[in-house]
Amino acid sequence: MKTQISRTARLSILPALAFSGLLAVSAQQALAQEVGDHQYTSEAVETGSQVYTQQCALCHGPQGALVDGINLSIGQFRTVQSDADLRQVISEGAGQGRMPAFSLRAEELRGVIAFIRAGFDPEGVAVIIGDPVRGKELFEGEGQCADCHRVRGVGPRTAPDLSNIGAIRTPASLQRNITDPATALLPINRPVRLVTRFEETIVGRRLNEDTYTVQLIDSTERLRSLKKVDLISYEISDEPSKQPTTMSSDEVADVIGYLLTLRGLE
Ligand code: HEC
Ligand code: HEC
Repeated sequence: MKTQISRTARLSILPALAFSGLLAVSAQQALAQEVGDHQYTSEAVETGSQVYTQQCALCHGPQGALVDGINLSIGQFRTVQSDADLRQVISEGAGQGRMPAFSLRAEELRGVIAFIRAGFDPEGVAVIIGDPVRGKELFEGEGQCADCHRVRGVGPRTAPDLSNIGAIRTPASLQRNITDPATALLPINRPVRLVTRFEETIVGRRLNEDTYTVQLIDSTERLRSLKKVDLISYEISDEPSKQPTTMSSDEVADVIGYLLTLRGLE
């Protein structure tokens, strides 16, 4: 059996790069840019934590769960989906005056949204979440996600079905899958190439594997289960399955907003 580990070669040049001060600086800048584009900064989360304690904790409680049916720290709301919805609720109030309207300064407003998105965790990752309606259009159109992914019975089976993805992944993991898929590889979901002793070559995506068998979706979208004793060769690629998106950070935020609404079949 042969297992290709093609990334090892590329990884081995990393220690060499670490000695270059210039490269280290620009990598750091790139990281700051990335965080600024797709996530709120830790300063914003910090500001928001103070605003929350002073203005919101009285009703919502220190853990954000005191108002019935709402748990701010785990993103459980009544009507809110996007960050724009949060902005509107905070600025205009809710529940016929049971929650008053707040006139916060711009960085306080941004901060309290960041604090909620960070899950009330000062060290949490606070991903910016956009408009799910626009996100759905981008997913099916310009973003090309639907070329590979299936949602609620529509689309190909060559990539994981995303119908329940909003229930099983964090916003941070969704963001990574879109903007930096190479670091978000799922070990099981790898492209594989098999040759059987019946001289059949099968390429596809691995779904599952145990000691004796491997299950995969082949290139014709058929579910296959193969006995390992029948295989002459078995190659697992750890190349990223796709390129980082070329969408803008606002568009990525919209797509994340859409993915978070996917919680099982309707
Ligand atoms: C005086 C009590 C009170 C204060 C103070 C308060 N809220 Fe609320 N909030 C409520 C109530 C009550 C609701 C439920 C409204 C409803 O019935 O839909 C609510 C709802 C919400 C919702 C969910 C809205 C939805 O429809 O999904 C969010 C988000 C929220 N509050 C955030 C905040 C933030 C952030 C602050 C501080 C800036 C804050 N609240 C301060 C009482 C309060
Ligand atoms: C070329 C095909 C392709 C395109 C285009 C594509 N993906 Fe993927 N995606 C995959 C494959 C294959 C995997 C699983 C393998 C892996 O982990 O790399 C995956 C994994 C994912 C996951 C993680 C699934 C999980 O179970 O955690 C998410 C989320 C995702 N993609 C979202 C998107 C979004 C959003 C877009 C559009 C911006 C997109 N993908 C575009 C092929 C694609």
